[in-house]
Amino acid sequence: MRKQIVAANWKMNLTLDEGAELVNEIFKGLPVLSEEKQVVIAPPYLHITQTAAQLTGIIDVHLGAQNCHHEASGAYTGEVSAAMLKSAEVEYVIIGHSERREYFKEDNAMIAKKVNQALINGLKVIFCCGEPLEIRDAGTQNAYVEKQIREGIFHLSEIQLNEVVIAYEPIWAIGTGRTATSAQAQDMHAHIRSVVAAKYEHEAGDNMTILYGGSCKPSNAAELFACPDVDGGLIGGASLKATEFLGIVEAMAFA
Ligand code: PGA
Repeated sequence: MRKQIVAANWKMNLTLDEGAELVNEIFKGLPVLSEEKQVVIAPPYLHITQTAAQLTGIIDVHLGAQNCHHEASGAYTGEVSAAMLKSAEVEYVIIGHSERREYFKEDNAMIAKKVNQALINGLKVIFCCGEPLEIRDAGTQNAYVEKQIREGIFHLSEIQLNEVVIAYEPIWAIGTGRTATSAQAQDMHAHIRSVVAAKYEHEAGDNMTILYGGSCKPSNAAELFACPDVDGGLIGGASLKATEFLGIVEAMAFA
């Protein structure tokens, strides 16, 4: 059975105290999850050692980071390497988020290097893809997302691919309150799965966890997660409030 995940992407939000408090609130309300279901929390870098300490001994909640550098080490002032994340007990790293692509000019080639750094250092990757509004309006979103995936992760071996989760996040839905319909999400997720299955073995497509991201909230999570090819969500805004985030985790628990 493939993994189901609800991942919190806090982005550049919350002080250390606020982050610690949010994690405690999440613990209090966390439903019992079956073995294939996981929660991931990806706080800002500065929170990571604190959050790692809080997560010690908690089986269902895993630690993530929001980015890593594409080189192993060196003179890159202000940056954080995959090896550093690993040494701080990080398990997952989000790579290729649309905000990184847009504001920090990350292209597919750089993102592929980041994926390599993450995997070399024993991290699992949450690989983000998704089209801007003009591409959706032109109806060419399938080809657009397929190119991101081909150039970002299709250099990997099938064994390496096991360590990758794909997050489909239509840019027009991120932080806008405008969620993709469950039919739009399902169509794209099925497309992504078929692209993976065509490149690798059929089983690799079947086993690939594909998350939806973009204004996911308690009121729409159950419908999205009921789609056969939607295996959970990458949650931005709604991950900053324990009640909202827990509502989404519960939707996964019952999916
Ligand atoms: P959102 O962000 O839930 O605030 O739309 C999702 C994301 O960017 O990961």
